[in-house]
Amino acid sequence: MASYVRRALVLCLSIVQVVSAQDYTEPYRPQYHFTPASNWMNDPNGLIYHNEIYHFFYQYNPGGSKWGAMSWGHATSTDLIHWEHQPVALQARGFPGNITEMYYSGSAVADVNNTSGFGTDGQIPIIAIYTSHYTVEQTLPSGKSVQPSQQGQSIAYSLDEGITWTTYDVGNPVIHEPPAEYADQILEFRDPAVFWHAPSSKWVAVVSLTKLHKLLIYTSDNLKEWEHVSEFGPVNAVGGMWECPSLFPLPLDGDEEEKWIAQIGLNPGGPPGTPGSGTQYVVGQFDGTTFTADPESVEQTNWVDYGPDFYAAITFGGMPVTDRVNLAWMNNWKYGEMIPTEPWRSAASIPRRLSLSTINDRATLVQEPILQEGKCWNKRRNKHWDSVPAGTTALNSTGKALDATLTFSKSESTEFGIIVQATSDLSEQTRVGYNFTTGQLFIDRTKSGDVGFDDSFAAVYYAPLTPKDGVVTMRVLVDWSSVEVFGGAGEVALTAQIFPSDDAVYTHLFSTDGSTSGVKLSVCPVESVWGTK
Ligand code: FRU
Repeated sequence: MASYVRRALVLCLSIVQVVSAQDYTEPYRPQYHFTPASNWMNDPNGLIYHNEIYHFFYQYNPGGSKWGAMSWGHATSTDLIHWEHQPVALQARGFPGNITEMYYSGSAVADVNNTSGFGTDGQIPIIAIYTSHYTVEQTLPSGKSVQPSQQGQSIAYSLDEGITWTTYDVGNPVIHEPPAEYADQILEFRDPAVFWHAPSSKWVAVVSLTKLHKLLIYTSDNLKEWEHVSEFGPVNAVGGMWECPSLFPLPLDGDEEEKWIAQIGLNPGGPPGTPGSGTQYVVGQFDGTTFTADPESVEQTNWVDYGPDFYAAITFGGMPVTDRVNLAWMNNWKYGEMIPTEPWRSAASIPRRLSLSTINDRATLVQEPILQEGKCWNKRRNKHWDSVPAGTTALNSTGKALDATLTFSKSESTEFGIIVQATSDLSEQTRVGYNFTTGQLFIDRTKSGDVGFDDSFAAVYYAPLTPKDGVVTMRVLVDWSSVEVFGGAGEVALTAQIFPSDDAVYTHLFSTDGSTSGVKLSVCPVESVWGTK
């Protein structure tokens, strides 16, 4: 199909989806974070930038707002903020009545050299590599047999920019079972992350043996035949299961030295004080077959995010090495199916551009949220106080979707920060601040509206942050049901969902046990991205 015809097809489908979409103003509906129009979502899958379009696939239940019938949903964007819903890419086989195979998490690549042979008429195939979760015992068209709940790695390809997909039935699953020594792990073998490794001219896949806390590394010439070449782990945090691993390069301190980052989800076993899912990273070297952790990176666990609602993060393929964008499921398996939203459940985190900097002698992941200044619509306000007195200070800025940057210095106070999404009497409020005594950034969601649907939800979450030249900087992104905080230059992040009342629109500063000096606030209300361009 000629490329203009494909583009036109994508555009028509997008228009149909946009026209049929709701207006995205239901209670708690995120205004600038991605959510499916309806139904359940979990992990981001197959993130890829291809032909100037960002593709976001995700774990999706076409049949309800709790986990089930796992399929790949699909959305596209040209700027990572405005998303257009696309038809379900891979729908659970046999849905709805007789599901025999579900499509679990995985990745997508553009096979520009047509190594797979799936490309026709010069069309570059997009290939999805995902976990097949088989629900019943069966012999597949490929002749391979599987047991109930067995997991293997399969591929599918698209020749129309990710809109329609063909599963590779004559070969799937292309990684049928784990290596013989792990034969007893066939039910816990999943989430392939695939990328092209140019120095060795090979495809590389990282697959998790979730219960053993091991990542298996495979290589391939054609995405169909895979060779197991090494393994990594366990290291650092080994709570629960290791899920959704990925491996990608980043330059250290912006220069030539290239490091590799293994990003790994854990469920449960997230950061201390959080109830369930979490995401860690390990910095090291990768030579095309083996990932080796740097000794400094295994002295203590490195958390990508210290909050409770940042899981299954993966990065976009198809981008330059200096433009690495991470995206997570902004929810937690502990209470994910109980959050009080309808008709959808779960949002994606804000996309975050990653870099790697040496901070306190350690190679540290630095995250910068991608939220274009244009979303402020010239409404940004900058304010400066020589001293903010003890207690709370009301701000003029109201609203439930804000992008605020706050800088301040220690003085007499023990804590300083911003109260967001407060009711007029402050009975509901979410505190985002810094504790000078403990040196920690925090989000307090104990009074953030509806907190009663799970025992662990009402809590305070902390991240360590060293002030720079005595000054604390924090950027706070508030949406209708979430708060994300980036401390310093982005070397720590904290993400938490909140479910406040509709009238919780007030914003205050707070200073505890004394005044705080040198306070600067830059804040803008963020407009809805749904229905706007
Ligand atoms: C992580 C996860 C993955 C799996 C998917 C199923 O959230 O459990 O390991 O592929 O969800 O939906």
